[in-house]
Amino acid sequence: MKLFIDTANIDEIREINDWGVICGVTTNPSLIAKEGRDFKEVIKEITSIVDGPISAEVISLKSDEMVKEAEELVKIHDNIVIKVPMTSEGLKAVKVLASKGVKTNVTLVFCANQALLAARAGATYVSPFVGRMDDIGNAGINIISEIAEVFEIHDIDTEIISASIRTPMHVLESAREGAHIATVPYKVFEAMVKHPMTDIGIDKFLKDWETVGK
Ligand code: E4P
Repeated sequence: MKLFIDTANIDEIREINDWGVICGVTTNPSLIAKEGRDFKEVIKEITSIVDGPISAEVISLKSDEMVKEAEELVKIHDNIVIKVPMTSEGLKAVKVLASKGVKTNVTLVFCANQALLAARAGATYVSPFVGRMDDIGNAGINIISEIAEVFEIHDIDTEIISASIRTPMHVLESAREGAHIATVPYKVFEAMVKHPMTDIGIDKFLKDWETVGK
């Protein structure tokens, strides 16, 4: 499973990119709003840091307007992927964009049927939201297994981005259930890198090293 970072914060992207573990970035209107900066400027800066798929989301709800927005966004960089909401208008936009060779990421997916529709419309990626399903009392990870199963049986090459990741366990379960990618927030990366036994091990090595040559 590949890893993307789910943020529009440049410092967070630089830090995790320096770890060498990510190959893409996802953003959404809420993440962009948090930064308080011009949308296109932020996206452009991200493309200068990470050389991989960078999802930028349209905000229109009508397919022809989504396509217009997408046409402007793809001018920023060849790596731009257009994030489109999982609606009938979104599907129409995906169809048009796919016919023009524009990559899309269908977002706000909450069940396998939605993922199947998105894939058939020509989506490059689908983004099922694991954490938000947990929030309403369902086992969010089950959407990943269901979509992975359906895509496998029917040889669908749309990639599954496990999204709305809140914990390291979500990342591990996404990998085990067959997501192609997990898009992970900065705080979850920080939690993933740590283990108390690693810290105890480093302390012991350094204490023992103090006795060398004495
Ligand atoms: C997906 O690409 C979204 O940006 C994101 O994962 C949503 O996460 P949230 O539910 O924590 O807002």
